[in-house]
Amino acid sequence: MLRLFTAGESHGKGLVGIIEGMPSNIYIDINEINKDLARRQMGYGRGDRMKIERDKIEILSGIRGGYTIGSPISFLIMNKDHENWKEFMDPILENKEDKMITKPRPGHGDLTGYLKYNFKDIRNVVERSSARETAVRVAAGSLMKQFLKNFDIEAVSHVTAIGSVKIKEAITDTELIKKADESEVRCVEAGTEKKMIDFIEEAKKHGDSVGGVFEIHIKGVPKGLGSYVHWDRKLDAKLSYGLMSVNGVKAVEIGYGFENTTKFGSKAHDEIYYDKKLGYIRTSNSAGGIEGGMSNGEVIVLRCGMKPIPTLYKPLNTVDIITKEPALATVERSDTCAVPAASIVGEMVALSIIAEEFIRKFGGDSLEEISKRWKDYI
Ligand SMILES: Cc1cc2nc3c(=O)[nH]c(=O)nc-3n(C[C@H](O)[C@H](O)[C@H](O)COP(=O)(O)O)c2cc1C
Repeated sequence: MLRLFTAGESHGKGLVGIIEGMPSNIYIDINEINKDLARRQMGYGRGDRMKIERDKIEILSGIRGGYTIGSPISFLIMNKDHENWKEFMDPILENKEDKMITKPRPGHGDLTGYLKYNFKDIRNVVERSSARETAVRVAAGSLMKQFLKNFDIEAVSHVTAIGSVKIKEAITDTELIKKADESEVRCVEAGTEKKMIDFIEEAKKHGDSVGGVFEIHIKGVPKGLGSYVHWDRKLDAKLSYGLMSVNGVKAVEIGYGFENTTKFGSKAHDEIYYDKKLGYIRTSNSAGGIEGGMSNGEVIVLRCGMKPIPTLYKPLNTVDIITKEPALATVERSDTCAVPAASIVGEMVALSIIAEEFIRKFGGDSLEEISKRWKDYI
């Protein structure tokens, strides 16, 4: 089965990813991965760190001459900012204490992480709980995206809300959603983009931060990924797990999950028809492409709610862990808004899970073997 391991601290030398279980003979274009890494770095409201980093992937193993060879794929993404942090992040030598953190930020893992792992310095928590780790998940997801392309599966994402500024109409046109990359806030609704930017600016002016909502649409997923037979095999559960693991994401919705709770069943479910050419079809997609824990062949629609960024330039009240006196939380260079970036992370995480389930369903060691089984099934 497809597995991903990630390692690396935010200001350490670099980030490491290992993908185990990727079939052989899949063409991988490194430029495409770097493009997705750049997409994660964009977005209105990002902090200065993203001006330093220009993420690039370096493949160490598992790919030869552009094709996967079935062995574990390992890769590096170096942290350019490490140059400025060498004395504080050395793995072996004693570290300078100037960058020690003693004032935990509400909303981050600072306080509980420090207590749980019995540290003296909250930096140990901050370095790993930082969303810098999501660069590895984007690189891995981008690789899996190239695998899924062989089966005409693709994902798009867009931002539907920043704070209280929301798009007015639901958008289902995936071609329109593709244009999200052209917007600084990844919003494709004319007129709303500017309001979102203003909302972020307002927060910035007051040393505050914002969250929002993004949506992922996955096209081309065949019927039958995931299963109803056991709770931990359900596709909606797996996607929710993956998306909930994205830093800051606190809500995941499949299709019109919340809206459907207000409707009669007659208006909530997607009626079934038969077309001689297309087979079984639906004329609506309230379920967001998943019923009974399985993909039903419709576009998979996932919506994620991200909380406001925990680091505030006008810091919140906290307690100094050394003096136990009231204090203001640590301020470390931070984004004001990361919803557009999170939408890219979400897109890649969702694709990774679809890739994993695709391989579980169709099996095989090589692309050819999987393709044959996929064609037979279709
Ligand atoms: C792409 C991305 C960038 C983020 N940037 C920041 C940031 O600059 N400052 C910050 O405090 N939190 C940032 N976050 C959110 C925190 O990483 C997250 O809130 C924190 O790890 C606590 O985890 P939790 O919110 O999932 O509970 C970012 C999240 C994502 C997905």
